[in-house]
Amino acid sequence: MGYRDVKFNRDSKFLVTGGAGFIGSNLCEALLDMGYSVRCLDNFSTGKRENIESFLDNEKFELIEGDIRDFDTCMRACEGMDYVSHQAAWGSVPRSIEMPLLYEDINIGGTINMMEAARQQKVKRFVYASSSSVYGDEPNLPKREDRVGKVLSPYALTKKTDEEYGRLYTELYGLETIGFRYFNVFGRRQDPNGAYAAVIPRFIKALLNGEAPTINGDGKQSRDFTYIDNVIEANIKGMAAPKEAAGQAYNIAYGGRVYLIDLYNKLCEILGVDTEPKYGPGRAGDIKHSNADISKARELLGYAPDYSFDDGIRLAIDWYKENL
Ligand SMILES: NC(=O)c1ccc[n+]([C@@H]2O[C@H](COP(=O)([O-])OP(=O)(O)OC[C@H]3O[C@@H](n4cnc5c(N)ncnc54)[C@H](O)[C@@H]3O)[C@@H](O)[C@H]2O)c1
Repeated sequence: MGYRDVKFNRDSKFLVTGGAGFIGSNLCEALLDMGYSVRCLDNFSTGKRENIESFLDNEKFELIEGDIRDFDTCMRACEGMDYVSHQAAWGSVPRSIEMPLLYEDINIGGTINMMEAARQQKVKRFVYASSSSVYGDEPNLPKREDRVGKVLSPYALTKKTDEEYGRLYTELYGLETIGFRYFNVFGRRQDPNGAYAAVIPRFIKALLNGEAPTINGDGKQSRDFTYIDNVIEANIKGMAAPKEAAGQAYNIAYGGRVYLIDLYNKLCEILGVDTEPKYGPGRAGDIKHSNADISKARELLGYAPDYSFDDGIRLAIDWYKENL
């Protein structure tokens, strides 16, 4: 079953925090396309107005410009909502190593504010973004939810802490929380700019501009690159999943493994360019290999990702060609 076949009550109301960001804006759009009312809470710190421009005028869409670090704002955002998808956070492992206090404030403080507001406003289901970085130095592949290592960055620690709060909020207060350990998401609207841009949009942008991208490390690290539509599916199915699925976190990936150098070569092949990459030093806090076992999400959420890396990368390139 695709996510478009998932049914909620027709008058259901959804709040997406971080709804002007990469993942959040795609989720807002999918829910609006399904006919539901969507409220977005975002402070535009990394998100962009252009991400929500195409549906800003939709009468079922409401924007609250505000900060999850402010509890009253979170209360106002959760008022009258049936479902919350909490995506607002600051990403990037290297940036978190530079600014640990800010990450604590936004990613942990903001998330507890949202969970507490959702509890007080009697939200039915609270799904939230965790991250594959919680696996830290756990060496075994594929990564399974019950086997985590020592975290390697403040960012990973914030997500691990959020998962603990998620579990507590379900166990202590009955707020149904579901966490998603996303694995390297990519696709339309992901920001290619800035020092902390993710690898796929950064490479595509450089190659489209005839520049040589820099590979951090030797290119032999691998990732389970996950196309955005698979993440949308996880969010929608997670909001509809049986109550027994709550209080836990799930790997959300395709379940594949792509080496960085192979990603690079694939992009060159599809774009029809023959550019030699540059190599830079490896980055602190990065893990070497990442590949997910997605059977828990399959079993408990009915997650069945439609888009392989190959399907997704072609769609992403088409989008950047038109939008860069
Ligand atoms: N993109 C990935 O590969 C990936 C992987 C693992 C986890 N995640 C998580 O998924 C979520 C969404 O990530 P994304 O890639 O869409 O990032 P993004 O930066 O595009 O989106 C985050 C959004 O949150 C908003 N935001 C940040 N701080 C806020 C605050 N204090 N108050 C209100 N809004 C705030 C930003 O303005 C932005 O619109 C994040 O929680 C991130 O940690 C993403």
